[in-house]
Amino acid sequence: MAEIVVALDVSSEDEALHLIDRLPDLRWAKIGPMLFLRAGTAVIKALKDRGVKVFLDLKWYDIPSAVSGAVEAALELGVDLATVHALGGAEMLRVAAKAKGSMRLAAVTVLTSYTPESFSEAVGRNTIELHREVSRLARVAVTSGIGAVVVSPWELGTMRSAVPKGTWLVVPGIRSPGAEIGDQRRTADPRSAAEAGATHLVIGRPIVRSDQPGVVYQQICETIG
Ligand code: C5P
Repeated sequence: MAEIVVALDVSSEDEALHLIDRLPDLRWAKIGPMLFLRAGTAVIKALKDRGVKVFLDLKWYDIPSAVSGAVEAALELGVDLATVHALGGAEMLRVAAKAKGSMRLAAVTVLTSYTPESFSEAVGRNTIELHREVSRLARVAVTSGIGAVVVSPWELGTMRSAVPKGTWLVVPGIRSPGAEIGDQRRTADPRSAAEAGATHLVIGRPIVRSDQPGVVYQQICETIG
């Protein structure tokens, strides 16, 4: 069964912990730049103390030595999963993998907010087939020693042949039918993504911005059964 990772895209540690207290069965939480810059490393410890695994999603994309230093620091803080950009290239990914210790790293392929047109425009090339680009980046990541990839639900089908069994498939862009899509573009409902092979479903606003986060969380758990 896929794990649910709640993206704690909130502005303070208090808000994050209040939300966690309303999700008693939660096993994984994601900390992004908004919470990390406001709450600092203390929020990592606070989550770990509550028995929640921490996904630190700062999407590192820098020269190899800088990324390797960040990975070492995350390991020291007890982070369980952290992101690097696959576009950082094989050398950056290799040194990151070497520094990761017992932590797992996930390589971001093509952000779920991109369409083929907007991605092609960003990289200055003619229309790119995103599933090919995502597979290419995923292969670079796993051959460099990275054990997880972040892909949209739309690329899950092609991942089976692109990465070895056991690679975590971390999938944002999850929306239940009728939920607001916001800035996400390549989306699917939780059940379809889980059936297509996602190992971790990353869900933020549908839970975090709900008046009843516990109810929404439970409903999602039930749909992926
Ligand atoms: O609110 P929503 O469910 O769209 O949140 C998705 C989360 O997943 C956000 O925290 C975002 O940073 C993250 N994410 C993403 N696309 C990626 C990688 C991470 O949306 N490719």
